Amino acid sequence: MRASRLSSSSLAVPRSGIRDVFDRAGAIPDAISLAVGEPGRTAPEYVVEAAARAARAGLTHYTDVLGIPELRGAAARYTSRVKGLRYSPDTEIQATPGATFGLFLALMAVAEAGDEVLVPSPHFTSYDAEIQLTGARPVYVPLRPENGFRLDADDLARAITPRTKAILLNSPGNPTGAVTGAEELARIADLCIDNDLWAISDEVYHPFVYVDGMEAAPSIAAVPGMRDRTIVVDSLSKTYAMTGWRVGYLLAPAEVIEETSKIAELVHSSINAPAQYAAAAALDGPMDVVRETRAEYQRKRDLVLSALSRVPALSFATPEGAFYAFVDVRGTGLSAQAFSTGLLEQAKVAVVPGNAFGDAGAGFVRLSFAGAEDDLVEGLARLAAFAESRMRSEIPTAVGAASRV
Ligand SMILES: Cc1ncc(COP(=O)(O)O)c(C=O)c1O
Repeated sequence: MRASRLSSSSLAVPRSGIRDVFDRAGAIPDAISLAVGEPGRTAPEYVVEAAARAARAGLTHYTDVLGIPELRGAAARYTSRVKGLRYSPDTEIQATPGATFGLFLALMAVAEAGDEVLVPSPHFTSYDAEIQLTGARPVYVPLRPENGFRLDADDLARAITPRTKAILLNSPGNPTGAVTGAEELARIADLCIDNDLWAISDEVYHPFVYVDGMEAAPSIAAVPGMRDRTIVVDSLSKTYAMTGWRVGYLLAPAEVIEETSKIAELVHSSINAPAQYAAAAALDGPMDVVRETRAEYQRKRDLVLSALSRVPALSFATPEGAFYAFVDVRGTGLSAQAFSTGLLEQAKVAVVPGNAFGDAGAGFVRLSFAGAEDDLVEGLARLAAFAESRMRSEIPTAVGAASRV
């Protein structure tokens, strides 16, 4: 008898911690969700129309594995305009079914058994499993709350070993909202160059930065010497509120795209054709929609900050980007898990316990401010009331509080 009918590689992959929250929140239909990392908006009308036009015109066949030339051209123009980076649409850009799959292709192209990939943590939930599936090992590098969760090159340097193959960067970051500044990126670039490492840069939140004078988070690919050792992973999911369209793209040296396209040919052959036309229209379209979205998120972020700062039991680092607040709930005497379960059951508000983003997230919860404003305002009021009620119930017995954690 076999030990298991299922493969050890698939069994070893952890289930996403976020799925548990969705399952539990789904069982309470009138709960307010501040859990999902997705925009409340939908794609602009001209984007939807581009897909409809393509479908009506019968542009519904397999496409080139790299994506239609229109999309690659639009991605090249967008990247040059917004990030100041130039990539060849013929050899250095590949359309992917979202950044999630783009990340997997990037990792498959550079990492293998015996390798280590550095993951600043708390981190996006897919990273560990995707690294593990290549046979490589994720090595976590702490993002420190006292440093606003900003990545510090010294912490990365301490984690590098002869087996380190790549560093996974995510700025603005999920779940912390931290942005890695240009100076720190230059120090990280030195580490990559000195130790012959790849940088895999997940830039899905790049336009959502709330730092004066910053239009987009800086990319490590723009640091001199890094273009040839960086794989940029980008997506339309967040920028254009197109999560369900499943379109993203890789920007990388031709030798990488050579490999990622070989793998993609085997595992998905090409991506949804009308969605590619929509994505091309979005990337070539006016930037107003992105700027409006950023202004909306910044306003919502400020709502979150003002609501949370009135609750002594909660503390947080001001998110400089993305659309998440990562809130320290330890002052309530509850663990992240107990806080999010209690908040859902007693106040009908879903947030994600921080340990879903790695052990470094223990004691924190992530709340998203990308959804409807009414829900956000009501959800924050309930969250604040819940945290305060915990404080009142904690006062009599500090020892009892600890035992309930
Ligand atoms: C950091 C990060 N990378 C990638 C993704 C996935 O993006 P996509 O929808 O393009 O697969 C997400 C989604 O939440 C994310 O937060």
